[in-house]
Amino acid sequence: MTDELQKGLEGVLVAESDLSKIDGDEGRLIYRGYGIEDLAKHASYEEVIYLLWHGELPDAGELDSFTDSMVAERSVDEDVLETVGQLAAADENPMAALRTAVSMLSAYDPDADAPATDEAATLRKGRRIVAKIPTILAAYARERDGQNPVEPREDLDHAANFLYMLNGEEPDDVLAETFDMALVLHADHGLNASTFSAIVTASTLSDLHSSVTSAIGTLKGPLHGGANQDVMEMLKEVDDSDRDPIGWVENALEEGRRISGFGHRVYNVKDPRAKILGERSQELGEAAGTPKWYEYSTKVEEYMLEEKGLAPNVDFYSASTYYQMGIPIDIYTPIFAMSRSAGWIAHATEYVEDNRLIRPRARYTGPEDQQFVDVEDR
Ligand code: COA
Repeated sequence: MTDELQKGLEGVLVAESDLSKIDGDEGRLIYRGYGIEDLAKHASYEEVIYLLWHGELPDAGELDSFTDSMVAERSVDEDVLETVGQLAAADENPMAALRTAVSMLSAYDPDADAPATDEAATLRKGRRIVAKIPTILAAYARERDGQNPVEPREDLDHAANFLYMLNGEEPDDVLAETFDMALVLHADHGLNASTFSAIVTASTLSDLHSSVTSAIGTLKGPLHGGANQDVMEMLKEVDDSDRDPIGWVENALEEGRRISGFGHRVYNVKDPRAKILGERSQELGEAAGTPKWYEYSTKVEEYMLEEKGLAPNVDFYSASTYYQMGIPIDIYTPIFAMSRSAGWIAHATEYVEDNRLIRPRARYTGPEDQQFVDVEDR
């Protein structure tokens, strides 16, 4: 047993995984050996979920039956939707609403009580959770705006169906394809903080709904998934203030603030997902005649690299991409959860296969040998 302290568990290996690998110096990310660039270009989100959960890309027949089994699980129990409506009416934070709703799903899951070691049951639960999150999130977003939820459609893929339920109209091909690509890019990322939460919970042999609920709570924070919303709020603030983006960033840094969307525990260079999303953000801006969001972003990127040696992470360009797709800013982080749920489930399932309780230690720095004094004598 070593007494060396690794704050934030930086660099500590706690598990073996076949799922995804990050090369932080080369800026490379692979899922089960496939480069993220190839997957973003050629694979659908459904194919990627299958790859993560079943170890290889599906053939056409496997993909069809997997997709059908996901589509069949899109509807969400009325009680859950009612709760979502109440949370929206109470102005609950969207990530908190999603966390509550996903937790509640277990009450209606026929496999809820299956033991954590029953992998087939865990994957059935996983399929239901991933299939239902878009329905929950779209319902929340609509209820909050005083609109009725829209029923899922069976003829649309996962990405297009979400945009359809969110907006009440079918997305065009560019929007559907961009959103599918964003889901692919966010599906897994090694042992990031929320995935670690998921496996800590799984390692106690708790249930999958608990793992995913823990992970959603962890993703919510601004140092993790919450950063994508903060990036867009920064870009909007720059725009509203008519200030040069660099002046805005200089000022924020002088005040000791962090610039969301920059820096990473693992990448020392630009995040490969940011490269892909940056290109898409640029294309969307050019097509819509609003290149300013991409232009602000590149100015900030150049400045941060030069002055702080920090490169953008995935959240930096997902923000302007989603904004230009008309997605409400406060659901960017739940969209991240929608995608990453596939990775959480893959890791929780994989970890339990060769389970050991995760239980680190803290170095005690408090007092020793205190003498107890009765309350009336203190
Ligand atoms: N803006 C300004 N400075 C930053 C920064 C940022 N976004 N990210 C890191 N730094 C600085 C820190 O202030 C620190 O400087 P110091 O050594 O002079 O104090 C140094 O870089 C190292 O930061 P540290 O917090 O130790 O790195 P970490 O590995 O613990 O944190 C993040 C990684 C992602 C939490 C961090 O980069 C961050 O807060 N980024 C902004 C939030 C974000 O985009 N999160 C999404 C991640 S995908």
